[in-house]
Amino acid sequence: MDLKNSVAIITGASKGIGRAVAIALSKEGVNVVLAARSTELLLMVQKEIAENGGKAISIATDVTSENAVQNLIIETQKKFGKIDILINNAGVGIFSNVIDLKTQEYEAMMDVNLKGVFLCSRAVLPAMIKQKKGEIINIASLAGKNSFAGGSVYSATKWGLIGFSRSLMLEVREYNIRVVTISPGSVNTHFADKEKNESQIIQPEDVAETVLFALTMPNRVNVSEIDIRPTIKPR
Ligand SMILES: NC(=O)c1ccc[n+]([C@@H]2O[C@H](COP(=O)([O-])OP(=O)(O)OC[C@H]3O[C@@H](n4cnc5c(N)ncnc54)[C@H](OP(=O)(O)O)[C@@H]3O)[C@@H](O)[C@H]2O)c1
Repeated sequence: MDLKNSVAIITGASKGIGRAVAIALSKEGVNVVLAARSTELLLMVQKEIAENGGKAISIATDVTSENAVQNLIIETQKKFGKIDILINNAGVGIFSNVIDLKTQEYEAMMDVNLKGVFLCSRAVLPAMIKQKKGEIINIASLAGKNSFAGGSVYSATKWGLIGFSRSLMLEVREYNIRVVTISPGSVNTHFADKEKNESQIIQPEDVAETVLFALTMPNRVNVSEIDIRPTIKPR
């Protein structure tokens, strides 16, 4: 699939994996719509893309707000006239044993990691169904497949996201819409402010490459799920 001149919304594009995906897509000629809450960081990514000859706009968006997501869709349509790709990447991870986890922390993870994906996916579907073409890529996590102490609610959101993605994929395939779930292991970002062993860890650019791989498969192929883990197990 040739990505040139297609239009992609990327949530959580202000840093980390989302930023890397936005930059990688823009290098392929994709018009990218950068969505996250912090305008300042979005504008820095937008500037970087423009300096490399790409096209990007920034739309400050809290993916947990139905109105904000609606605004994201309206503004994207106004600027580019269509939506071809949605990358549901925005995510929150708060790692703590259940006994210590606050209700607000539970809600923050549920709201961004699940409700945000639901709101954004539902919002792009009418346009994608109408044009009989679309790509929805959900950034889940290996935490949605493996359990670990301190990760209960984060794991639950990603487990849930994988279930959501599988169902959505079956619902929309008849409209030529592909739904892809990518589950990385630990990635070298500031996510959850965790200490990471940087020598062997997966880089945000590796996840971006994986997104490109899924998007550029022949249109008849939906690579529905991809796991990414470091070759050598980190100590
Ligand atoms: N890093 C890892 O080890 C790892 C591993 C597996 C999966 N993942 C997943 O990969 C995705 C990206 O993670 P990352 O490592 O790149 O994390 P990151 O560097 O912390 O970036 C998270 C992004 O999500 C955005 N975000 C958070 N809450 C939001 C909200 N309410 N509305 C809109 N945007 C929001 C943040 O922007 P603002 O704060 O500006 O809103 C930021 O752009 C997440 O879904 C995460 O679960 C990460």
